[in-house]
Amino acid sequence: MRHLLSIDDLGAADLREILRITPTFAEVAQRRIAKVPVLRGQTVALLFYEDSTRTRLSFEVAAKRLSADTLNVSVSTSSVNKGESLRDTAETIEAMGIDAVVVRHRSSGVPHQLTQWLDSAVVNAGDGWHQHPTQALLDCFTLESRLGDLSGSHIAIVGDIKHSRVARSDVAAFTMLGAEVTLVAPPTLLPPAVDRWPVRVSHDLDASLAACDAIYLLRMQTERQHEALIPDLREYSTLYGLTAERAARLAPGVPIMHPGPMNRGVEIAADVPDLEQVVVVDQVRNGVAVRMAVLFLLLGSSTGDLPGTSALPAQSADAEASAEGDVAEPVTEVTSGVGG
Ligand code: CP
Repeated sequence: MRHLLSIDDLGAADLREILRITPTFAEVAQRRIAKVPVLRGQTVALLFYEDSTRTRLSFEVAAKRLSADTLNVSVSTSSVNKGESLRDTAETIEAMGIDAVVVRHRSSGVPHQLTQWLDSAVVNAGDGWHQHPTQALLDCFTLESRLGDLSGSHIAIVGDIKHSRVARSDVAAFTMLGAEVTLVAPPTLLPPAVDRWPVRVSHDLDASLAACDAIYLLRMQTERQHEALIPDLREYSTLYGLTAERAARLAPGVPIMHPGPMNRGVEIAADVPDLEQVVVVDQVRNGVAVRMAVLFLLLGSSTGDLPGTSALPAQSADAEASAEGDVAEPVTEVTSGVGG
C-alpha cells in the first residue's frame, strides 16, 4: 500500500488486513504509556483545508502513538491566504522532510492529485463528496466488534447521502465485507446514479427500522448543498430523524452510528445519543487504532513487524523505556500482504 485514497483502491484483501491488525494498535492505547517506536524518525504532515475535529486529532494521536513527528499545517493562518497554490503549499511542506501527508480538501480528487506531485505517502482524510476511507475503516471495525462477521447483515444509512463521502466510502466497505446496505433518504438527497450503487433504496425510515442490524445516521451537509433540497428542516427531521421512539422499534442492541459531528434535533433527537446502543464514542476511539494501522502499513511495515503486545510486560521498566523509544522493542511477525 503506497497511498490510501479510496476504499475501492484499497480492495477487499487490504481492507480485511487493516481490520485484522487494528486490535494490536487498540491494545497500545490501553498501556500506561500508550506509545510504540514503530515510526520513530518519520514525520506525518496534517494538511486540512476543511474543518475537522475527529479526523485531524485522531491522525495526530495515531502518529504520535507510533512515535512519528507531526507537522500540523493550519491552512487558515498559512500562506494559502496569500494565494499560494495547493501544489506550492504541498511541495513546500514536503521540502521540510515529511514521509506522509494526510489531506482533507473540499474538492474531490485532491489526494490523488497530490500523489502526482509528491514522493510522500498520501492519505485521504476526506475529499469533497468523494471518499473518506479511514472513516469507513473505523466504521467497519466498530461494526465487526459489535456484530461479528458482517456477511449478510443489514445496514441502513439514513440522511443526506447525495453529498456524503462517508456514505460512498461506507457503502463500498460494508458491501466488500458482505453486508447488505439500504439507503434511506428523500429522493432529493440521493445521488443521481444511485441505481448503479450496490444498495437498496427506501424513502420510509419507519418501514426500514425492523430489518436493521445497524443504523448509520448522516447529518445534512449544508456546506456542500447549493440549492433547497428539502422543504424545511423540521419536516425532514419529522420524517427522517431518529427519535427515541423510533430507536425503541429497532431490535435490541442494534448499534446506532454517526460519523460526527452530530446535529442534535435534526437527524438525531437530542436524547438519542445517550442511549446505550449508540456507538459514536466507540467509533472515535476505534478511529485512532485504525489510523495507527494505516500509518503503520504505509510507513512502518517494510520490516514486516508489528509492535509487540504480549512480548511487552506492560509495567516493566524495559517496557516503559521501549515505549519512550529508548531501546529496541520486541516485535512479533505479521504476514501483511498490504505493505508491499
Ligand atoms: N467524521 C469526521 O470526519 O469528523 P470530522 O469532520 O470532525 O473530522
